[in-house]
Amino acid sequence: MAEKSKILIIGGTGYIGKFIVEASAKEGHPTFALVRESTLSNPVKGKIIDNFKSLGVHLLFGDLYDHESLVKAIKQVDVVISTIGQQLEDQVKIIAAIKEAGNVKRFLPSEFGTDSELNTAVEPAKSILYKPKVQIRRAIEAEGIPYTYVTSNGFAGYFLPSLSVSSPEVTSPPRDKVVIFGDGNPKVIFNHEADIGTYTIKTVDDPRTLNKTLFIRPPKNTYSYNEIVALWEKMIGKTLEKTYVPGEQLLKQIQESPFPISILLAICHSIFVNGDITNFDIEPSIGFEASELYPDVKYTTLEEGLRRFV
Ligand SMILES: NC(=O)c1ccc[n+]([C@@H]2O[C@H](COP(=O)([O-])OP(=O)(O)OC[C@H]3O[C@@H](n4cnc5c(N)ncnc54)[C@H](OP(=O)(O)O)[C@@H]3O)[C@@H](O)[C@H]2O)c1
Repeated sequence: MAEKSKILIIGGTGYIGKFIVEASAKEGHPTFALVRESTLSNPVKGKIIDNFKSLGVHLLFGDLYDHESLVKAIKQVDVVISTIGQQLEDQVKIIAAIKEAGNVKRFLPSEFGTDSELNTAVEPAKSILYKPKVQIRRAIEAEGIPYTYVTSNGFAGYFLPSLSVSSPEVTSPPRDKVVIFGDGNPKVIFNHEADIGTYTIKTVDDPRTLNKTLFIRPPKNTYSYNEIVALWEKMIGKTLEKTYVPGEQLLKQIQESPFPISILLAICHSIFVNGDITNFDIEPSIGFEASELYPDVKYTTLEEGLRRFV
């Protein structure tokens, strides 16, 4: 049997990164996490790092802005996964280090959302989120680095607790009233973060996804906003008061809201009004759907995820 690739995660202590590190270690890949030394003294991150240690993850100290540290870390592995959150355009520094190291079999840049090319998001999401991700795709391709792009779609942990845009203080879906963006009919997809980790790791050694996109679109996580609310209403045995925010009104709210609310609302407009998660077919020339490629993965369905809050 072929040996499992050694995987380096840059951004592993971040929100989605920690699930990918965990999945990598659990799938038996020698797993390396690039960690900034300053992060060690952060109590929240310290717990994440302790968990990494208990899983046998190798910690490598480094920084996106320290070229030598990147090259040194990358030389020890076969696969590099970036889950950098903010400095998306600065992933050119990872590309430069991969080129210098010369040993990488697959690079997965920080995508993990709606497909950065196949969406119609308005500003500020367009320029801040998707444009840099597309630029990084083009830079990877121009350098001839083998890649896989992971279009994970929505994070369930961001949406299900509030049935709305991420509000960390809300820990259970509403039981009286709900605001629905658009008419609530386009299909959206929210996946559990641990499953995103599992599918991401499954793909790194898979020749079928070489230079392709992995779309995580499991059928049992595909619902419209209206259907999600109806499912929740059935679970709690109550009918919620619904306020619909038409697309035009949402566009106005985006323009009038301060950052970062404006970017969250622009993402909502893209997925809930324009239907950008599901309004295209997955052409085999572009990529494949994860639950079809890896039917052995028993993913958490949206219904199971929602039921936890009852
Ligand atoms: N689909 C969705 O619903 C959804 C939601 C949110 C985000 N996303 C996407 O997911 C991806 C990751 O976002 P996230 O929210 O998980 O990111 P995040 O929580 O902000 O984590 C970013 C990671 O990058 C690390 N980092 C920051 N600066 C660094 C540097 N100079 N050198 C090395 N590491 C550095 C951070 O380290 P420290 O721990 O030391 O700070 C952290 O581990 C992005 O592409 C984002 O657009 C998708």
